[in-house]
Amino acid sequence: MKLPFFTKKQAEVSVFYPNDTIPEHIAIIMDGNGRWAKQRGMPRAAGHKEGVSTVVKIVKTAVKCKVKVLTLYTFSTENWKRPKPEIEFILRLPKDFLSIYLPDLIANNVRIEAVGDIGKLPAHTREAIEDAMERTRSNDGLLLNFALNYGSRDEILNAMKEMFLDINKGEFSLEELDEQKFSNYLYTAGMKEPDLLIRTGGEIRLSNFLLWQLAYTEFWFTDVLWPDFSEKEFLQALEEFCKRKRRYGGL
Ligand code: IPE
Ligand code: IPE
Ligand code: MG
Repeated sequence: MKLPFFTKKQAEVSVFYPNDTIPEHIAIIMDGNGRWAKQRGMPRAAGHKEGVSTVVKIVKTAVKCKVKVLTLYTFSTENWKRPKPEIEFILRLPKDFLSIYLPDLIANNVRIEAVGDIGKLPAHTREAIEDAMERTRSNDGLLLNFALNYGSRDEILNAMKEMFLDINKGEFSLEELDEQKFSNYLYTAGMKEPDLLIRTGGEIRLSNFLLWQLAYTEFWFTDVLWPDFSEKEFLQALEEFCKRKRRYGGL
């Protein structure tokens, strides 16, 4: 069943006041799909499927709130430890989601990106995401960023390897290396670091997500399981973010 998206007109209505500091980049660890299904005596896959409906709703809200970047932790480098049928089910969802919603995303000026080692994903997953990236390349509304086969340590190690190759080639010296230069080797190169991290599902941990990029991010945790997460909780997190005072080590 297709959930309703919205027209451009609705998307232009902001729910915030002009002086509110809306987080420009929101990253979400979408956790709790399996437990949601278990509570209902359903297979874990049912929770992942329901989780996609939450993605649709939250993307819609992010567009409405004029968030610039929404990064969704979709599949981690550690999730390969799960049973094969569950992995296969999860990795079919990006294609299912895009085959239904890509036209709406395009109509709402959304640009699709991916971070992670997407080369190691099954071809159908990789091709669906690459096609969406290609077709939304010139959009300048919400950047919808899927973390797919993403692991922060894997990202940092890959960045180090590529960086040392460039240093060996003489492109720049070790002395010239600074935080900015290093971050250009990460999957998130060129993206603003997250202002707000949301984790659903009750766990208070990062699970190898954006370890470098979250250095000064505001965290917001909720026990609500991802399939139950809604615009209400999302706006609660944004409201809480508006009240935080970010100091970055200063006064
Ligand atoms: C998050 O939900 C989705 C992925 C990790 C892909 P889980 O599948 O981890 O759900 P729980 O944590 O077991 O409830
Ligand atoms: C984090 O959730 C990964 C994603 C949401 C994709 P997990 O369920 O894999 O995390 P752990 O295993 O509880 O740390
Ligand atoms: Mg989990």
